[in-house]
Amino acid sequence: MSAASIFAEPLPGISPDIYGPADFKAVSDIVYGVAGIVLPPGKAMLVYSRIAPLVRERGCGTFANYVALIRSDPQEQARAVSSLTTNHTFFYREAHHFDHFEREVRPGLLRRMEARETIRIWSAGCSSGEETWSLLMTLLGGDKLSGKRIAQRDLRVLGSDIARHALAKARVATYPARDFKPVPSDLVGQWTREDGEDLTITDDARAIVRFRTLNLLEDWPFKGRFDVIFCRNVMIYFDNPTKERLVARFAEVLAPGGHLYIGHSERVTGPAAALLQPVGPTIYRRRTA
Ligand SMILES: C[S@@+](CC[C@H](N)C(=O)[O-])C[C@H]1O[C@@H](n2cnc3c(N)ncnc32)[C@H](O)[C@@H]1O
Repeated sequence: MSAASIFAEPLPGISPDIYGPADFKAVSDIVYGVAGIVLPPGKAMLVYSRIAPLVRERGCGTFANYVALIRSDPQEQARAVSSLTTNHTFFYREAHHFDHFEREVRPGLLRRMEARETIRIWSAGCSSGEETWSLLMTLLGGDKLSGKRIAQRDLRVLGSDIARHALAKARVATYPARDFKPVPSDLVGQWTREDGEDLTITDDARAIVRFRTLNLLEDWPFKGRFDVIFCRNVMIYFDNPTKERLVARFAEVLAPGGHLYIGHSERVTGPAAALLQPVGPTIYRRRTA
């Protein structure tokens, strides 16, 4: 696609000397190259509104100068890419996944934890943490005694995202009380404490989770395999080759019999699909052979 064909008319109120089609193309090429996120021409205004504050803050004057900066400054590039991520999320999003996890997966995980096995769970593209906490609360359950017992087992939960600003919120783990409305009340009662108008995830639950900055396109620093991976509403931003590569890598790091949950509008595609048996809507089980 040529730069001129991206948006022929100048964007309303924006001088093409400050931000034009070539700038949009340069930014979207960088974001695609770094994070796999596809920014179609319809996102030209979004790119402007997210990047313009950074252009101003760094005293660059024009997008062209800012593009030159992010080409040579990895930290600023990470900030720019982060600022173009969509971090929308909420507790118990796609509740049927948590129902399935509680009904079909949790009992086996509890048995294995009792047998002193290590259980590893990954919330990949966790944004500000609502998905990770929903999953952990579901695993710990609403019963105080058994929840405390599970919390003491060898249970490792990872939340990862490319966007540092979202992870900062996930780590603080404090959310407006109304955000917890979709979460079963016994879980909220058990695993949060009041913090003024807000609720904060309890310390014993927080001790189980590590939040890490991780670009899904880069190398993954994992030694063991995961029993459960949630990667929901992340692949929608990627093109098909990127989705296929990612699904293949998830299949590789999933333990045989482990479960992968993806977003409602996402599909498992490519050669690795053969390794992943559909066991529910957008739920897959890693085949054992
Ligand atoms: C819409 S949120 C989804 C959050 C949560 N999984 C959910 O379903 O509610 C998408 C997240 O994917 C992250 N993301 C996008 N590209 C990524 C990449 N290449 N590596 C890691 N995270 C990425 C974004 O930063 C964003 O927080």
